[in-house]
Amino acid sequence: GVPSIGVDIGGTKVLAAVVDEAGRVVDTATTATPGKGSGIDDATAEEVEDALVSVIGALTREHGRCTVGVAAAGFVDAVGERVRFAPHLPWRDEPLAQRLTDRLGHRVVGEVHVDNDANAALWAEVRFGVAGDAEHVVMITLGTGIGGALLLGGALHRGRNGMAGELGHMQVVPDGRLCECGGRGCWEQYCSGRALGRAAAAAGSELSGPLLTEAAQSGDPAAVAAYDEVGRWLGVGAANVAAAVDPELVVVGGGVSAAGELLLAPARRALAGSLVGAGHRDLPELVGARLGPLAGVVGVADLARDML
Ligand code: BGC
Ligand code: NA
Ligand code: ZN
Repeated sequence: GVPSIGVDIGGTKVLAAVVDEAGRVVDTATTATPGKGSGIDDATAEEVEDALVSVIGALTREHGRCTVGVAAAGFVDAVGERVRFAPHLPWRDEPLAQRLTDRLGHRVVGEVHVDNDANAALWAEVRFGVAGDAEHVVMITLGTGIGGALLLGGALHRGRNGMAGELGHMQVVPDGRLCECGGRGCWEQYCSGRALGRAAAAAGSELSGPLLTEAAQSGDPAAVAAYDEVGRWLGVGAANVAAAVDPELVVVGGGVSAAGELLLAPARRALAGSLVGAGHRDLPELVGARLGPLAGVVGVADLARDML
């Protein structure tokens, strides 16, 4: 079949990958995420679009015409065309699929498919990862914010607007911390990469990112406390989502999940402690994702191929 390209717009780099039918990455191209230094939040829509065209073009030069999928950290409509809203990106009702299809021309087979990044990650775990045999799955990706996605009855659940699974913006603290979406007390303000950094600082640690993970792994109390706090928030939020959808599996992905049991163990305890009727039901299993940083590109490449 035709090769499929998946693209993921991360906080530091834009990653594009050619993905084969078995979900294997056969080639990649990257470029720095645009922005004036303080991250993607201040990049213009045009700069992000230019970066996408450049990484996709680099791969089609080598591999010829491809189907193309883009995983975006935002609210994408149910047909995969428009980014309606994005708390951390400059897109507002942006016809991204059309714009990229026009600019890429004959290099794309069919039309570019845009999907939410967490939906793409869940799809990758369903097709090639930990969720292969599952019917009802909640995906939670922890990065800058929280990405969420739902597999119900074996299908990605998109909802009326394509906005189902925006779990990170469930309000967990009335009048709580201000969120980039404009709301207050959103779950992602307490459980995400940024929240982890904040929890570490509050516990007296100056570390963040991989150094914080290493410190926690070697038993540094402040670092362990930070993972513990974010892990607890993860479990409580997962319990609320589980109360609504009764899944057999909760998959945790995104950069923060690289810490593994440091995060997952407190999350499992909080989940069991807060889920309604916990003693009278099969609890969902809470596990780490398998595809790691490749989940978005692998999932969205597969979704793009399926659209054909
Ligand atoms: C956005 C989601 C996105 C997530 C992870 C959230 O703030 O609302 O659409 O999936 O961040 O990138
Ligand atoms: Na989603
Ligand atoms: Zn929010």
